[in-house]
Amino acid sequence: PEDLPLSGKKVVVTAGPTRERIDPVRYISNFSSGKMGYSLAEAAAALGAETILVSGPVDLPKPDGVQLIKVESAAEMLDAVVSQYGDADFVVKSAAVADYRPKEQHSQKMKKKDGDSSIALERTTDILKTLGESKEGQILVGFAAETNDAIEYGRKKLSNKNLDYIIVNDVTDPDGGFGSDTNVVTLLSRKGKTVPFKAMHKKELAKLLLQTILELESDDSND
Ligand code: PMT
Repeated sequence: PEDLPLSGKKVVVTAGPTRERIDPVRYISNFSSGKMGYSLAEAAAALGAETILVSGPVDLPKPDGVQLIKVESAAEMLDAVVSQYGDADFVVKSAAVADYRPKEQHSQKMKKKDGDSSIALERTTDILKTLGESKEGQILVGFAAETNDAIEYGRKKLSNKNLDYIIVNDVTDPDGGFGSDTNVVTLLSRKGKTVPFKAMHKKELAKLLLQTILELESDDSND
């Protein structure tokens, strides 16, 4: 319908972890379940947006009204997001993208040897930073998963990555973070607003976050 707040808008959401292969049977990853990102995609679609969900490997059903693009690694997520970026109005990056991947991917299963072992790692591309550097009117919303000094680190990421908003997630909070059904976050805006949210279900939080961002955007355009 025409009268929904995100009608005619394209929203790209990323969700879940990435997997960085070591060999055909092993990988490096993290505990993201995808619940936060899937909730955001569902909420964007319910608000009328054309919604693209770029998801790492998770165990969740595709939300109604959402186009799902499945990826595995940080490199695949980068390609998928960049290909959707040009005509996007909003990009919300809730995925927990690996910062490092094994320098070498073995084509055969690694054999165990006597003694200790180590794996050399190299940096992945920072997807959000790449988007921030080539922004052409898109509203960029990042996440910051922090264990200490969350707001301060969040503000730094907001400015370093040229974002419009960042959702700061203190992942040590027992009511939120990786894997749980609920989350506790603070929304920071580029213009200096700080909006804390109490602990609530990720689905409810996703709706409130998008509504709050839309309100802050319309305040700005009325300035
Ligand atoms: O999936 P759930 O179990 O529901 O958990 C939700 C969550 C805790 C994963 C989510 O709320 C969250 O905090 N997501 C961001 C996790 C993260 O990777 O944060 P970060 O502070 O390391 O990264 C900052 C931002 O840069 C993020 O938006 C991330 O998507 C982005 N990034 C990071 C690395 C990279 N190579 N490319 C990126 O785009």
